[in-house]
Amino acid sequence: MSVAEDVSLGSVRGRLEALGQEHLLAFFDELDAQQQAALLAQIASIDLESMPELIETYVTNPQSHALASDLEPAPYYALRETGPGSWDPAEFRAAGEQLLREGKIAAFTVAGGQGTRLGFDGPKGTYPGSAVRKRPLFACLAEWITAAQSRFGATIPWYVMTSPINHADTVAFFESNRHFGLGEENVMFFSQGVLPSIGMATGKLLLANKHEVAANPDGHGGSLKALHASGAIADMRSRGVEHISYVQIDNPLAKVIDPVFLGLHASAPDSSGQMSSKMVAKTEPSEKVGVFTRSAGKTTVVEYSDLPAKLAEARRADGGLQFNAGSIAIHAIGVGFVETLNAGGRFALPLHRAEKKVPHIDLGTGERVTPDSPNAVKLEAFVFDALPLCENSIVLETDRIEEFAPIKNAEGTDSPATSSRIQTERAARWLELAGVDVPRDLQGECECVLEISPLTAMTPEELRERELPGEIERGAEVSV
Ligand code: UTP
Repeated sequence: MSVAEDVSLGSVRGRLEALGQEHLLAFFDELDAQQQAALLAQIASIDLESMPELIETYVTNPQSHALASDLEPAPYYALRETGPGSWDPAEFRAAGEQLLREGKIAAFTVAGGQGTRLGFDGPKGTYPGSAVRKRPLFACLAEWITAAQSRFGATIPWYVMTSPINHADTVAFFESNRHFGLGEENVMFFSQGVLPSIGMATGKLLLANKHEVAANPDGHGGSLKALHASGAIADMRSRGVEHISYVQIDNPLAKVIDPVFLGLHASAPDSSGQMSSKMVAKTEPSEKVGVFTRSAGKTTVVEYSDLPAKLAEARRADGGLQFNAGSIAIHAIGVGFVETLNAGGRFALPLHRAEKKVPHIDLGTGERVTPDSPNAVKLEAFVFDALPLCENSIVLETDRIEEFAPIKNAEGTDSPATSSRIQTERAARWLELAGVDVPRDLQGECECVLEISPLTAMTPEELRERELPGEIERGAEVSV
């Protein structure tokens, strides 16, 4: 071992001892040189000095947060174009298109999650998510960006957030797909941070392996920190980007670039241009999506698990759910707002705790144990916690069939099968508007599988101008 490494071992050990976490080096002498270096580097990268406060707040003495007593449904720009609550999208579309033509918009995709529920081996963005062509999820989003670039005649740089778990595989995937034709210089990758898992009973950090601290990506909210820390925001500034279009990797129908939404975000009289959101009407009170609410004049998302049944089930006079604005994790975010959230070297978002089963090394035996009940607290930041920090934040309603077909689970709700059905339904709707016959059963369900590439059409109006078949055959799988 070199002197330099010895010194760093000494300093890491000293810091750990001061915090009562020296057990992380319990097996250090058994490790080979590479493993020792990896462990020291990982420990040195953790913000150790903030751990006592995090452990006290989220593990030893966690507080439950009561819902605000003045909670009310957040107002939103409704889908309907006539009647009460109607508004004119044309003016905002023009504003959004102008921003795009001026190169002031960047696309941003958070793809650092672990994708545990889908159980797919590899970054989720490499999962074959489109209904017919089975295009990887990254490719689905890339096609939107390509299509938008050609519509608006400007470059739309794409920032992709990974995590240490999938960074190398993600970059390699883009390289082997030649960055989907977007140009290597216009696709930027950066990894989000991680936070250590903390033993629930002990308040001690856990070892996942003798040479590795158990840690998890710091949540989609970590993206607002990583955008800044990685230099992505500085890169955006150098390109003249003013607003970021934020989508998740798991929604192949996401309109990665939506001029109306971007225009509203940037120029609606009640928007501060800091952070805006899209919502869909909830299907039922128990649907597992967060809802947009308002409290003390601020927009907030209340997670489904935190919304009491009484509120989730409350109805308006017209029979609709009172708290019906479900979050679909699509946002527009001002570049300056991300800078504000990171001002003074302190990141503004709070963390959330989740009790999880985390495999770890038993310090007594040195064996790896897989617990059968939660043994650890994992910490994550949620992106929507930035909303109440805005001066004014607006919400835009959208149609679920048009842009929400998430792939979360291997089976059941929000699975590849349900996503394929929604993608088919949207394509059928657009094709029928263009005069194509689509086979449907008596319940109105499509009897075919359909997909429309954004390269063919980004709107039903554009589809009408394309050469299309007169009808789709029953049982066919058709991509246009
Ligand atoms: P999910 O909440 O669905 O989590 O992420 P997940 O990790 O993908 O999947 P599960 O819960 O383990 O099954 C929603 C979006 O946020 C991103 C995901 O990649 C996805 O696009 N995300 C989530 C991050 O980028 N980082 C995180 O730390 C968590």
